[in-house]
Amino acid sequence: MKSLIILLLYIVVRSVSGQLNDHQDPTHKDIYSQSKIHVKQDGRHQPEYYGYEPTCPDADDIAPCVSTYDSWYNATDLECSAVESEEQLKQIFKADFPFKNFHQFNLFSNNNIKVLEAGVFNGISFEIINIYATDLEVVELHALDSCYETATEIDLYYNNIQYFPFDELSLFPKLRNVYISTNSLSVIQADAFYGLTALEGLDISYNNADIVGTFQDLPNLQRIYLDSNNITTTIPAQFIKTGSSHLSFIGLGHNNIVSVEPGAFDIVDSLVINMQDNSLSTLDEATWRPYLEAGGTLSAVLNPLVCGCDIAWLFAEDQLLEQVNEYTTCSDGERLQDLVPSIFDNC
Ligand SMILES: *[C@@H]1O[C@H](CO)[C@@H](O)[C@H](O)[C@H]1NC(C)=O
Ligand SMILES: *[C@@H]1O[C@H](CO)[C@@H](O)[C@H](O)[C@H]1NC(C)=O
Repeated sequence: MKSLIILLLYIVVRSVSGQLNDHQDPTHKDIYSQSKIHVKQDGRHQPEYYGYEPTCPDADDIAPCVSTYDSWYNATDLECSAVESEEQLKQIFKADFPFKNFHQFNLFSNNNIKVLEAGVFNGISFEIINIYATDLEVVELHALDSCYETATEIDLYYNNIQYFPFDELSLFPKLRNVYISTNSLSVIQADAFYGLTALEGLDISYNNADIVGTFQDLPNLQRIYLDSNNITTTIPAQFIKTGSSHLSFIGLGHNNIVSVEPGAFDIVDSLVINMQDNSLSTLDEATWRPYLEAGGTLSAVLNPLVCGCDIAWLFAEDQLLEQVNEYTTCSDGERLQDLVPSIFDNC
């Protein structure tokens, strides 16, 4: 027994000191030791990967865009926020680029680019396209075609986009996130997202758009935000039927939804559904019981709920009311929580 303990101790000490040695060993293949210090022309020091010295495009050729290499991620970003016109942006991508695969394209707070033109990137690819708080109105068909194989994220918050080439989305097999929130789209075709098997996050909230069609066949979807649009009708069966077992959030707040049909959404464990600020007059048992039974939660705050016998089921023995947001009220302002359950005795 004693010798077994000593043997165990020995193994522990050996493996701990082994780890320490690995850190000191300059040939150990970790991210630190693969980089060396490189003295740049301007005298600044920068760590760099062995065997890879990125030659950024000539700074003058691409000005006012700026290319930055991040040695930590071994990735090069291009930031073009200071661009003065669409013509200039197009010209910049005609420069001599020593490599074609960038990590991120950034355009922030720019008032000069209204149209992202077809072919503008001239074969340069990006993984993340990040255009934020600009006056961009139109993303033309084929504007992003150099990114079909590379794009994982299209991030276009807070612009003025009226046209986006949704029909092209099926050509981006790696897309994990599409964020086109807070823009000026008037119609969004849900069918355009069909079959985006990598898609995890979709945010098209705050467009005041009519959303037509259904969201289906999105097997990895986790979060979908459709809040603050112009959904004025009954949500039909199969509206969000992604087939994803990872779905955790559906946002449909601040629309004008009058009712939701049974089977409108996937039924998955612990799904959070936001129906705040709509025109629901009831919470139908046939529609909502399956989500609450699966451990989901529902917010129906700011809806004109009538609170008659139609909601008696929430007060039954299984106490599903606990999974309805506590601030959910009847149309007279009284919280569902505060209703006396016995008023449903005669239902
Ligand atoms: C860094 O990125 C370049 C370009 O994508 C690639 O060729 C190179 O192998 C990468 N280096 C390392 C150490 O990953
Ligand atoms: C919202 O939808 C309604 C009904 O379909 C339509 O009459 C109205 O014009 C739409 N509003 C906007 C801002 O598109």
